[in-house]
Amino acid sequence: MQSLTVRLEMVFDQVRKARNGLRTGRIIDVGSDHGYLAVRCLEEGIVDSAVCTEIHKAPAKRSEDALINAGYGDLSEVYVTDGLTGVPLKSGDIIVMAGIGGLNIIDIIKRAVTDNDSNVLSNVVFVVQPQKSNELVRRYLAESGFSYLEEAVCCDRNIFYNCIRVVYTGACRDLTDLEACYGPLLLERYKAGDKEVKEYFDHLDSIFEIRKRSNPAVRTALEEKRKNECI
Ligand SMILES: C[S@@+](CC[C@H](N)C(=O)[O-])C[C@H]1O[C@@H](n2cnc3c(N)ncnc32)[C@H](O)[C@@H]1O
Repeated sequence: MQSLTVRLEMVFDQVRKARNGLRTGRIIDVGSDHGYLAVRCLEEGIVDSAVCTEIHKAPAKRSEDALINAGYGDLSEVYVTDGLTGVPLKSGDIIVMAGIGGLNIIDIIKRAVTDNDSNVLSNVVFVVQPQKSNELVRRYLAESGFSYLEEAVCCDRNIFYNCIRVVYTGACRDLTDLEACYGPLLLERYKAGDKEVKEYFDHLDSIFEIRKRSNPAVRTALEEKRKNECI
């Protein structure tokens, strides 16, 4: 079985939950690099085929080689392209964007929303694991009609990561600064005393202490969180 880092295991777990036991549909791994995630999803039988997209030729070749070597050449396609350009979505697709920047993720999803019919969009699941700009990703998703299914967190070699699973419902809403900075679903788990989320929030608090000087949204979020903890 293809081994994955702790971070990619978290992403894989969200793909597994998105599939919900039904082995139909594709994984589309945008920015697949080594192709490990697609290989693992095929090995575990949670997808029936895989599409990898890569903006650069060398990682696209790595993904292709990994899939062929694992025996999945016939069940996979690898494209050198920007995001989902030239890859029309189909109902049942699970689209993953992991290990790439938040602004890049927003740009790729924006174009997917423009390029695909809303009936198809509402029948696919997006799993995103931004390397940075989490607040902007959370805000964009909520404001653009995506509903949150789950947000996971993990700590891999002393670095914290989060992974958001969403579906397009067309119901748009604005997030408060608190929700954007800490995650609406993570805040609920935190209130319920979840230890894993508490560790993640302790880490965010220390980063936000520095960032609050230059970022008013972060300052408001931090103040709001502290105020709620005093109640
Ligand atoms: C740090 S790697 C992460 C690889 C893998 N997804 C993971 O989580 O381990 C990011 C990869 O995304 C690719 N990438 C960045 N922007 C992209 C885009 N707009 N479209 C397709 N691939 C992109 C890069 O070439 C790189 O191989």
